[in-house]
Amino acid sequence: MHIPIWATTVFLFSISGFAAAAPADTKSNNSPDPRTEVIKNAFRHAWNGYHQYAFGHDELKPVTNGTNDSRNGWGASIFDALDTMIIMGLEDEYQQALEHVKNVDWNSTSDPSKTFETNIRYLGGLLSAYDLRPDQALLDKAIELADKVIMPAYNTPHGIPAAYVNVATGEPTDDHDLILAEFGSLQLELVRLSQLTGNERYASVANEVIYAIDNVTTPFPGLYPITWSLDDFTPSSSYITISGGGDSYYEYLLKTDMLMRDEHQLNMWKKSVDSMQTYLRSEATSDMVFLGELNEDYKLLQTGELVCFIPGNLLLGARYLNDTNIAKFANELMDGCYDAWALTPTGIAPETWGWIDKSQNMTSFPTAMQMAMQTTGYIAQDLSYDLRPETLESIFYFYRLTGDTKYQDMAWKIFESIEKYCKTSAGYTRIGDVSSVDQVNPLDFEESYFFAETLKYLYLIFSDPSVISLDEYVLNTEAHPFKLTNKIKIQAEF
Ligand SMILES: *[C@@H]1O[C@H](CO)[C@@H](O)[C@H](O)[C@H]1NC(C)=O
Ligand SMILES: *[C@@H]1O[C@H](CO)[C@@H](O)[C@H](O)[C@H]1NC(C)=O
Ligand SMILES: *[C@@H]1O[C@H](CO)[C@@H](O)[C@H](O)[C@H]1NC(C)=O
Ligand SMILES: *[C@@H]1O[C@H](CO)[C@@H](O)[C@H](O)[C@H]1NC(C)=O
Ligand SMILES: *[C@@H]1O[C@H](CO)[C@@H](O)[C@H](O)[C@H]1NC(C)=O
Ligand SMILES: *[C@@H]1O[C@H](CO)[C@@H](O)[C@H](O)[C@H]1NC(C)=O
Repeated sequence: MHIPIWATTVFLFSISGFAAAAPADTKSNNSPDPRTEVIKNAFRHAWNGYHQYAFGHDELKPVTNGTNDSRNGWGASIFDALDTMIIMGLEDEYQQALEHVKNVDWNSTSDPSKTFETNIRYLGGLLSAYDLRPDQALLDKAIELADKVIMPAYNTPHGIPAAYVNVATGEPTDDHDLILAEFGSLQLELVRLSQLTGNERYASVANEVIYAIDNVTTPFPGLYPITWSLDDFTPSSSYITISGGGDSYYEYLLKTDMLMRDEHQLNMWKKSVDSMQTYLRSEATSDMVFLGELNEDYKLLQTGELVCFIPGNLLLGARYLNDTNIAKFANELMDGCYDAWALTPTGIAPETWGWIDKSQNMTSFPTAMQMAMQTTGYIAQDLSYDLRPETLESIFYFYRLTGDTKYQDMAWKIFESIEKYCKTSAGYTRIGDVSSVDQVNPLDFEESYFFAETLKYLYLIFSDPSVISLDEYVLNTEAHPFKLTNKIKIQAEF
């Protein structure tokens, strides 16, 4: 691993504080990387379009300048953008946003609140803005929201939170099938809310669910199918994935321990990582390493951009625990995720892809698949790109935890491709075909997480590592940083 000269003196103590603790004459303290300014301008461009055409709605449709309300119409893009504005120092924009947030009326929606999405975007956005710049109005709104639509989700026979809550009545929906990531990763936000209010109830209802999951038997220790039945709280299928439906469940086991020291959840995380290595890891014929999925007794050789948060989560855990084996696993998965971007004509990764495992006999596969394997090392399935942040998220952790500037170069290439292929006159759009440089097929949608995650991770990759230091903050699954009441030391060197 390459370590920049200017960082070596402090590298052994605390990697995430390396530049802050470095002598005042180091390059990073004197001149901010000019790339931060370019990314800030990208944020301004997106915000201006949203502000002009869609302010108060959840999303801008950045090709037709229309609006959409897929998250109750409370202004999801605003809540998701708050902390990014604070971090980037966009004061005027922050005041515009804050005014909306203080006055939002949760009763204004007729759609049910989706517990998981409301928790990570709205509650997460409020809590992190409050942590970065305390303002009682933000915390009051957070409490109001949690009491109105998050806590009522837990009013079910087993205390397992319902997927939706009727906003007007506060009644949980009576769905009988639930999704692991949706009921099993609400605890980071609720633990932080307990820490800030002194009311333990938020944390305890959320954590109980996690401990209950640990009591359920599974043939793959620590890994669970994504669909569960609420009737008896057991998995209702055997489909295991680290992609959508599973992802943040695994991510939060580690992060909750960082936030509140919960060894039980940390042990659950370790168990799951062990099993990812044993049951999901696959080496493609191209030598790239990916995480597959499990269904019945089959290993499915498919993955996608949504899984690409995992290299960063693994490296964070590896450094927290000083575990070289997990770090090695994280590294090979990071390479695979980045290659998925680097090897397409647009430089943008497809949503999902498959591959052929080294142990398989490649000559028995159709010629087209063999050729795809030779050119990209994988077979793209869904060719769209939804402005997703996951690979950038992992690159953020890799840069912060190694100091190796090659990760900044990787992030910059990704940013340039997004600029080239996703930018519209009013913002940035989801596209339909990353394999075609002439016809990417703009799909006219700008997700709120583009403000919360994609642009924030990009900005932080080029910022001084003392900005949202990993010794002082833990980021939720929507990239909203929560302050750690007890600082941690993340080990730089093994
Ligand atoms: C959308 O807004 C941009 C920026 O104001 C403008 O240039 C463009 O013509 C608008 N597009 C449509 C379809 O109205
Ligand atoms: C737009 O919002 C509606 C609900 O108001 C939702 O059904 C639809 O999926 C949203 N569109 C997108 C692209 O998310
Ligand atoms: C929203 O509804 C709740 C309960 O129906 C009520 O207590 C509250 O005052 C309402 N809030 C606003 C801003 O109207
Ligand atoms: C898990 O099982 C243990 C041992 O049987 C029990 O003590 C504990 O209460 C259970 N926890 C939950 C949350 O169900
Ligand atoms: C691989 O598959 C081909 C075509 O089905 C077959 O001819 C060959 O014998 C197989 N090789 C091995 C090592 O199994
Ligand atoms: C980390 O692990 C290495 C080797 O396993 C060991 O030599 C070192 O002392 C450990 N450091 C800490 C801080 O635990």
